[in-house]
Amino acid sequence: MCSALYVGAISGTSVDGLDLALLHVDDEALTIEAAHTEALPGNLRRVLIDLAQRHGDHLDALGHADTALGQFIGQSINEFLARCKVRHEDIAAIGSHGQTVRHRPDGTQPFTMQIGDPNCIAETTGVLTVADFRRRDLAAGGQAAPLVPPFHAALFACTDESRAIANIGGISNITVLAPGTPVTGFDTGPGNALLDAWYQQHNEGAYDENGTWAAGGVTLQALLDALLQDPYLSVEPPKSTGKEHYNLEWLQPKLSPLEPQDVQRTLSVFTARSLADAVERWAPATARVLVCGGGRLNQLLMADLAGALACPVEPVEEHGIDGDAVEAAAFAWLAHRRLTGQPGNEPSVTGAAAERVLGGVYSP
Ligand SMILES: Nc1ncnc2c1ncn2[C@@H]1O[C@H](COP(=O)(O)OP(=O)(O)O)[C@@H](O)[C@H]1O
Ligand SMILES: [Mg+2]
Repeated sequence: MCSALYVGAISGTSVDGLDLALLHVDDEALTIEAAHTEALPGNLRRVLIDLAQRHGDHLDALGHADTALGQFIGQSINEFLARCKVRHEDIAAIGSHGQTVRHRPDGTQPFTMQIGDPNCIAETTGVLTVADFRRRDLAAGGQAAPLVPPFHAALFACTDESRAIANIGGISNITVLAPGTPVTGFDTGPGNALLDAWYQQHNEGAYDENGTWAAGGVTLQALLDALLQDPYLSVEPPKSTGKEHYNLEWLQPKLSPLEPQDVQRTLSVFTARSLADAVERWAPATARVLVCGGGRLNQLLMADLAGALACPVEPVEEHGIDGDAVEAAAFAWLAHRRLTGQPGNEPSVTGAAAERVLGGVYSP
């Protein structure tokens, strides 16, 4: 009988905060016992955003941020466990994703880079730490992303309904759960990161709360059509993308002098349409779309998504799961897979040659 507690930690591409989840694993079920998002200190957040944007070499900044983020993750987990009233010795392992600063899974020398030194996490917490989940899948010829679909399958698969789980983080990805067929999934295209970047260029604040600013604009059909021509959208899965592609430098050449608020409105429709089109094209039997990630809190984006899809669209809360905790819990689960010698990747998702046990182990 297996019964163990794991902590999962991830800072997603939106760089809005460190998501933490406490996951209970036993033979019967996976249960998210607690979750918390810790805001990143302003200076660390700025450096992480900068590292994910720049094209040059900034090895000192990279090395510094690697250590600083590792220490911050460790300290945040210590505080999280204290708040949960769980002793460190009761945690089987931490699964830490870290922060992606570059994701280039295609080409002759593909690579993906996550920072947040796991040595510092193990040192700061005294808990066995598993990290570096993506690179083994890449080494086996996979996209290294998305890694959450098998966890989505464990949480949300239903024997009599085809479902898609949409995670609207900085980038959007879907998991396709169809009874009797292997799980598939891929990045559909932009998520919150592009909306946030445009919003921040024209407003104070990190993001457009509930899409209120966008809602005051009108959809620019010509711009929407141009955005929907983006070649990534029609690439056959397996595929993954990042802020290396969907950023303001990508958007700028498509803009003539336009009202910024109308651009924001159009980006919301574009984000929804790219996701909905992917469901229709690659998962046409989908009867329900369950949404997790911060984008589910954007009421306008959710309305745009519902408008673009023929089937019901629901936040995962309607299925009893905290939509902010799913990704962090997935990395707790991946730590469990690592320690029990089970594969973490799904070749039907990432395109890897075969299943692989993912992650490096750092002793307490
Ligand atoms: N109330 C809200 N209204 C609009 N957008 C929101 C709201 N709450 C969260 N978001 C969006 O969700 C993002 C964070 O989503 P998250 O799932 O944490 O992404 P990531 O995994 O990339 O970190 C924010 O940057 C913001 O764009
Ligand atoms: Mg986040």
